[in-house]
Amino acid sequence: MPDSATWTEADRRHVWHQMSGRPADGAAGPLIIAEGDGAWVTDIEGRRYLDGMSGQWCVNAGYGRHDLAQAAAAQLSKLAFYPLTRSHPPAIELSERLDGLLGGDRACLYSNSGSEANELAFKVVRQYHQQRGEPHRFKIIARYRAYHGSTLGALSATGQALRRYAYEPLAPGFLHVAPPDPYRRPEGTDLEEYGRTCAAELERTIEFELPETVAAVIMEPIITGGGILIPPDSYLPAVKAACERHGVLLIVDEVICGFGRTGTWFGHDASGVRPDIVTMAKGITSAYFPLAATVVSDEVFAAFPADGGVRRLRHINTFGGHPAGCAVAVKNIEILEEEGMIERSATGGAQLLHRLRRAIGEHPLVGEVRGRGLLVGIEVVADRSTREPSGAKAAAILAAAERRQLLLGRNADTAAGLDNVVAIAPPLCVTDEDLDHIVNVLTECLAEVQ
Ligand SMILES: Cc1ncc(COP(=O)(O)O)c(C=O)c1O
Repeated sequence: MPDSATWTEADRRHVWHQMSGRPADGAAGPLIIAEGDGAWVTDIEGRRYLDGMSGQWCVNAGYGRHDLAQAAAAQLSKLAFYPLTRSHPPAIELSERLDGLLGGDRACLYSNSGSEANELAFKVVRQYHQQRGEPHRFKIIARYRAYHGSTLGALSATGQALRRYAYEPLAPGFLHVAPPDPYRRPEGTDLEEYGRTCAAELERTIEFELPETVAAVIMEPIITGGGILIPPDSYLPAVKAACERHGVLLIVDEVICGFGRTGTWFGHDASGVRPDIVTMAKGITSAYFPLAATVVSDEVFAAFPADGGVRRLRHINTFGGHPAGCAVAVKNIEILEEEGMIERSATGGAQLLHRLRRAIGEHPLVGEVRGRGLLVGIEVVADRSTREPSGAKAAAILAAAERRQLLLGRNADTAAGLDNVVAIAPPLCVTDEDLDHIVNVLTECLAEVQ
């Protein structure tokens, strides 16, 4: 085995890291993780860290699951690949499971990543409207601060200027509106009224654009990477009602919120809204295999007859719905269900929120601690009375946590000046001791950072 200096040097020379570039000579190397078990990962020097971000919000069932590895191995031995221009049993089984989880009357299109799942949703909604005699409906309305992926279409929907501007101009036909940000809402405003006002703003945008040119609205149930922005309960139902008034489809991006992250199977479950399309990736396999799905209502599916004519879907993707990915996803859903991980996310998340509020909620750098399930955000501010964001302090908290064996996230490189939210999204298998570690470390970090 090479020693850690050798790994680091080889990494420095040959690996171009995401969100990064060529390291300067002598620069410190990245954290190199070699193993994982439960909620913990171990680096090449044997140092352990609680992974407070589940990798990239995706290892929902936790690390070191032999049953998930076995599901992939068994499927690869039996049938390594077959395309979904035809079919295979794991895709059929998974589609039935997803249909059940989403309340029925659904059909699934598969791809490999959250970005592709959203790209596919955009293609589907445009073709859907064309085929129903409304070819001018091509615009997609998304929200500022939300991330929907890295490919050029998904990046066009992304409302984070700092991830977009080096690659512009992007695809035409994408617009953005402001999302609800309850912490920074106008003082004295009622929370639920604020949710309705934000939905009304979105509806005004549809009207200004001419409803007959708008194909779909896309949103996460909770903006995750953009700063854990939890909308008022009134918001999503009001958005859905506005979409229905104007013949606009609603795409809900569950790439992070899905598969238990927010304490329910999907982030939109509690809202009572039935989206026209739901996109998902990451936690669908707990990251044991790349897989994504774009799950559409039967009404959308029905607009694409498979009669050999021109109205069928014109999309093909080699590895989308890979048999091993589907087999892993089926097993993963079984594990989340049988081991009560969705409930664990709800109860463990509530405990974590309560304990963090008690431990650090009154600290001068903490504007708010908010969360749902095992998705928690800490709004780090320079001044609680003005709510001035402090990205620098948030970064210092992350560094202090890493020194104490806790890995956390932050909404860096999203919206200018709003890079101050510390994110906590551990695997859903976290133990009580793991939660103690998170609370203790954050308490120490805030005492250190001041
Ligand atoms: C909400 C959301 N949608 C889409 C994506 C894109 O997923 P992927 O990185 O798998 O392409 C992400 C990635 O973080 C995401 O957070």
